[in-house]
Amino acid sequence: ITLYIPGDAAVSSVGAAAVLAAVLTEAERLDLSLTVVRNGSRGLYWLEPLVEIDVDGVRVAYGPVTPADVPGLFAAGWLRGGAHPLRLGPTAEIPYLQGQTRLVFERVGVTDPLALADYRSHGGLAGLKKALTLPAEAIIAEVEASGLRGRGGAGFPTGIKWRTVHAAGAGQKYIVCNADEGDSGTFSDRMLMEGDPYCLIEGMIIAGLAVGADTGYIYLRSEYPDAWAVLDRAVAAARHEGLLGADILGSGRRFELHLFKGAGAYVCGEETSLLESIEGKRGLVRAKPPLPALQGLFGRPTVVNNVVTLASVPWILAHGGDAYASHGVGRSKGTLPFQLAGNLKHPGLVEVPFGITLRELLYGYGGGSASGRPLRAVQVGGPLGAYVPVERFDLPLDYEAFAAAGASVGHGGIVAFDDTVDMARMARYAMHFCAEESCGKCTPCRIGSQRGVELLDGMLAQRAERGNTAALLRDLCQTMLEGSLCALGGMTPYPVLSALDHYPEDFGLVSEYEE
Ligand code: NAI
Ligand code: SF4
Repeated sequence: ITLYIPGDAAVSSVGAAAVLAAVLTEAERLDLSLTVVRNGSRGLYWLEPLVEIDVDGVRVAYGPVTPADVPGLFAAGWLRGGAHPLRLGPTAEIPYLQGQTRLVFERVGVTDPLALADYRSHGGLAGLKKALTLPAEAIIAEVEASGLRGRGGAGFPTGIKWRTVHAAGAGQKYIVCNADEGDSGTFSDRMLMEGDPYCLIEGMIIAGLAVGADTGYIYLRSEYPDAWAVLDRAVAAARHEGLLGADILGSGRRFELHLFKGAGAYVCGEETSLLESIEGKRGLVRAKPPLPALQGLFGRPTVVNNVVTLASVPWILAHGGDAYASHGVGRSKGTLPFQLAGNLKHPGLVEVPFGITLRELLYGYGGGSASGRPLRAVQVGGPLGAYVPVERFDLPLDYEAFAAAGASVGHGGIVAFDDTVDMARMARYAMHFCAEESCGKCTPCRIGSQRGVELLDGMLAQRAERGNTAALLRDLCQTMLEGSLCALGGMTPYPVLSALDHYPEDFGLVSEYEE
């Protein structure tokens, strides 16, 4: 009898270890022999710890399970899929999962993250095997055909980036995975690394074959110790099994992979300061050009891609770029693992094609607010993303539609707020965040964010007669937008201006709509 009890950070934080202990204790008392797989989370966070039982080849889910529920679940015959108030039915038929298009996350929650045999038997390595038969040009052509764009937030076409590095001549090149997932409300990189680490490793090897790089680095944020532990073991196993090293799967090709731990600076998620950090320097942003694609790590041509970008590549090679591009809308091809967080009844991970509306995500999947009060604002794309008001909840999630509305899809993080939110305080929070995290290299961000906090403090202290201050704040935001060297200072105005635009009443300003 096989049970699946997730072992990743998210489910550990809600008591997975205690549930496992209770299951083992009860099994011993009943003299039952069980196999327990520590899978990743399926991403239905409000149902965690979600325990699955393999009943004649069908996985049946129960959740959320507490240690106190365990004796009752055994008594109800859960090992045979027995009825119980916590029984959710066959996992694959849970509507939240059934409606998704899981391409990148196809194995997350399904397999044992560290079992390479499990990975292979669920489609793993098919993309790499295909890539090993292709010339570099053809691998890049496949990625171009897929329409894949950078999932870290900027949405730059991955194929073009790879082509640039490929064309940058011979010699040492690098693949760097940006796993410094720092956006508020985002967790897809972490889930992928903890739930299907070989998928990322496979994607990085394929990237190496495509551009002619034999060395890779995963830059992981220090706040992800569980992901570090999983990746560390996965890289060692991959090396041992001949997936990494001097002779990839007996092909005579080589790729070596190193893990690098960040030190907790948000700005090190910016690609050039990330490279500085790996080089052992302070995480200061470099001016671009030169692009990392031409002069990146240690001055060499470097692909810097986000976790989900690289983890999308094995599927694309295995199934073809056209199959990937058949999902999505316009220039936003494929799927994005959206992360629902904040004040929602059903927070979690939802991988669906681009084009879904915010409303469908917030109410269809998210179930509306957890507090039961009306939703008032959502922040999409992390702490530098704009606030989207209720009137715009029908906006389709695609890069162009969001850009046209002055917002950004970013890394797909969606944080919801109900009508108790004070948007003036949220605007202040954005400026304060920027002031805390600024690398200090350029003036609009270093000084501007401090002045922004002061202006907003003034507005919050006396929410009347604030028109002049608002004008000054807008002026400051424009300077930061136009004059900052990187996205931290350059995007902080998005949450601030969107709060001012859509919620002027929270700043004590007359609503523009009422004027
Ligand atoms: P960017 O637009 O400057 O560059 C995007 C990528 O394309 C970079 O890797 C750049 O080197 C590359 N690139 C641009 N032109 C190229 C060319 N001609 N050839 C080859 N490569 C080229 O954006 P940036 O500053 O790298 O990222 C900003 C984004 O980061 C924001 O949109 C924000 O959403 C996101 N972000 C994500 C966070 C997260 O936790 N995932 C945190 C903070 C920001
Ligand atoms: Fe550094 Fe801020 Fe300038 Fe970016 S915008 S380079 S974080 S000071």
